Amino acid sequence: MNIPYRPIVLGLLGMVCSGIFLQRALAGGEHYFPPVTDPVVREECGSCHLAYAPSMLPASSWKRMMGELDKHFGTDASVAPATAERITGYLVENAADTGGQRYGGKLMRGVSLENPPLRITELPKWVREHNGISTRTWKRKDVRTKSNCLACHVDAERGYYDE
Ligand code: HEC
Ligand code: HEC
Repeated sequence: MNIPYRPIVLGLLGMVCSGIFLQRALAGGEHYFPPVTDPVVREECGSCHLAYAPSMLPASSWKRMMGELDKHFGTDASVAPATAERITGYLVENAADTGGQRYGGKLMRGVSLENPPLRITELPKWVREHNGISTRTWKRKDVRTKSNCLACHVDAERGYYDE
């Protein structure tokens, strides 16, 4: 390649790459769930597992969960009242049926808001998406539990679930 053309080629390549990235981000819905940006939520809700995207559950689920943090899936995950209030505010604001609707709206199909689910992994759409995974895979040492999204979705911290 002639040296003078190089910057042009590199520039074009850059445009193509950022185009792909933009498309991926704009695709929204199915594969992209904005990660937690609030530092307090990241710290308090990301120490035992991935800080789950608020748009993956409805506001009523987050309220219910935050009201019983001392009995959180067999552990005590309670925090100071002021911290709990801040976390609840953030989760409710960005939930699947509020601010995060564009991303999590489809996950809400068939979900009862009267008896709000506490698990993303029990949502009908989540179950359907993961139907093809064998029992053996779920039992793998590096997976252990369905809640361990990061075992299979390496980009989950950044909000991508393409696999
Ligand atoms: C002390 C550890 C701990 C902390 C802190 C913690 N969790 Fe959990 N969380 C767990 C455990 C254990 C489970 C159950 C995981 C499993 O079933 O394998 C869980 C499960 C969950 C699930 C359900 C995941 C699924 O299967 O769909 C959600 C949602 C969740 N936590 C949200 C939160 C939020 C929000 C916070 C912050 C307020 C938080 N967690 C803080 C330990 C913790
Ligand atoms: C054992 C591996 C594994 C674990 C653990 C896992 N997933 Fe998945 N997930 C998959 C596979 C495989 C697919 C199907 C991908 C496809 O069809 O393109 C998938 C699909 C998805 C999709 C749909 C993406 C798409 O391309 O349509 C979402 C959203 C998702 N997973 C979220 C989660 C969340 C949230 C967790 C944790 C609570 C989780 N997954 C845990 C393997 C896993």
